[in-house]
Amino acid sequence: MLDKTRPGWWKHATVYQIYPKSFQDSTGSGTGDLRGIISRLDYLQQLGIDLIWLSPVFASPQVDNGYDISDYRAIDPMYGTLADMQELIAEGKKRGIGIMLDLVLNHSSDQHRWFLEAKTSRENPYHDYYVWRDGTPDQYPNEMKAAFGGPAWTWVPEVGQYYFHQFAPQQPDLNWENPALRRELYDMILWWMEQGVEGFRLDVIDQIAKEPDLGITGNGPKLHEFLRELSAETFQKGCLVTVGEAWGANLERAKLYSAPDGSELSMVFQFEHILLDQQPGKEKWDLAPLPFVSMKQCFARWQTGLHGQGWNSLFLNNHDLPRIVSRWGNDQEYREKSAKMLATMLHGMQGTPYIYQGEELGMTNIRLPIDQYRDLETLNLYEERIAAGYSQEEVMTSIYARSRDNARTPMQWEDAPSAGFTSGTPWLSLNPNYHQINAAAQVEDETSVFHYYRRLNALRKQYPVFVEGDFTLLEPDHPSIFCYLRRWQDQELMVVCNFGDQATDWELPASWKNAEILIENEPWSDRCQLHPWEARMLLRIRQESKQSETADENK
Ligand code: GLC
Repeated sequence: MLDKTRPGWWKHATVYQIYPKSFQDSTGSGTGDLRGIISRLDYLQQLGIDLIWLSPVFASPQVDNGYDISDYRAIDPMYGTLADMQELIAEGKKRGIGIMLDLVLNHSSDQHRWFLEAKTSRENPYHDYYVWRDGTPDQYPNEMKAAFGGPAWTWVPEVGQYYFHQFAPQQPDLNWENPALRRELYDMILWWMEQGVEGFRLDVIDQIAKEPDLGITGNGPKLHEFLRELSAETFQKGCLVTVGEAWGANLERAKLYSAPDGSELSMVFQFEHILLDQQPGKEKWDLAPLPFVSMKQCFARWQTGLHGQGWNSLFLNNHDLPRIVSRWGNDQEYREKSAKMLATMLHGMQGTPYIYQGEELGMTNIRLPIDQYRDLETLNLYEERIAAGYSQEEVMTSIYARSRDNARTPMQWEDAPSAGFTSGTPWLSLNPNYHQINAAAQVEDETSVFHYYRRLNALRKQYPVFVEGDFTLLEPDHPSIFCYLRRWQDQELMVVCNFGDQATDWELPASWKNAEILIENEPWSDRCQLHPWEARMLLRIRQESKQSETADENK
């Protein structure tokens, strides 16, 4: 178990993300809940994770599956009670697993008490908790669009003003310029810290310092000032881990966010690698093939750029992204191998790895008829693009590839009715491949994707080079090999992956011939070639330092 009182302990941690609606139902309601999660803690302990990032379980009308919070201190009855949450925290602690809550501080639900008050009159003390602009019902303050479609402004006749919302109209943006609002948020966070949570994920945190008159949402001028105050007033009062979602982060900004002095956050989720396989300047729905060489150079830039100056989060999946094995791997013929290769590539790097539920099984994307999708972003996109004249086939191709519901189909526990997720009717269709791809089968099978992830988690704890080592990209222009070196003191780690369906010639440098194989996704049969999706991690102890150590010992 990690010693979570040591500063920077989270550099040694592996995080597992749970999307509670789809993880485990304990009541037969068809949606997951907290008691369901408690019943699966042993599975997570076996996988060897240290933290659970729990997507929002707070009271919510569920317009955006909990990312629209109506009471930050209450658990939504759909998920259970505060007592269940306390039990989850306590049961997790017994197994060395901490809870990271998902804080949505950029906006609330339009059903939050603050907003219900705010929209009654301009004089109400809560009015200024939100962002308002004067106007007339037929003239928006400006042309800004909301992320889920439509204008970013909604008219409220009672006050004769528009309120600003970067997401759905039911998710009004909070006004961070107001110190009273900030204080309420800090007190709420301190209250959750008292309940024993070990960290927070901060939803769209780069959007809190907005300047809508200038058309600015992300990275507003006061962003880092706000973050430093937030951190000093809350997180720094405990030994917490924090990760901010920052679509607009570049390397320079990430150095501020994750500065080693802890003045802001532990790390951010940045999305440069994730945005590469879409047409430049267009939306995620406008697909493009993955530019492989740029992708590995992008990882290399972040690895070397933040080394010693910040900290990376390592992820390929989350509840907003399609399944990586369907996206960058091959979810048919090479599903297991490519899932393991992608894990090898990612978990060898410096940073804190995040595993999204089902990733450790190699779960895949789903294709549903449009009326079976539940995600509002997907449904809005469908309407918008059909109205704009796209063909049904074009729109469905984008949805199959990119819909957020790809990640949200229920967890595949076993080959039993509803995959053991629920005894009722699941809120979103299961992927029918649960008969073959499920946790029960993989836990029994030492060669499974599950055990591969378990071994990766254990290796990161065993060898300091994973956490401490620097990074050098080898073969930078090779069209299919992703190979890199990590070095720390006398430990040298080489990670080599063949990215694609074709075998390729590749020979291990002679000086590595006696290196130890830490993990591989197939036995190394051909020393002059890498097979499709073949991946391996090798460790060697540098001779020079070994000799000098022996010399030191002999003194
Ligand atoms: C983040 C969440 C996403 C949510 C959005 C609005 O991007 O990850 O699920 O819809 O914020 O809260």
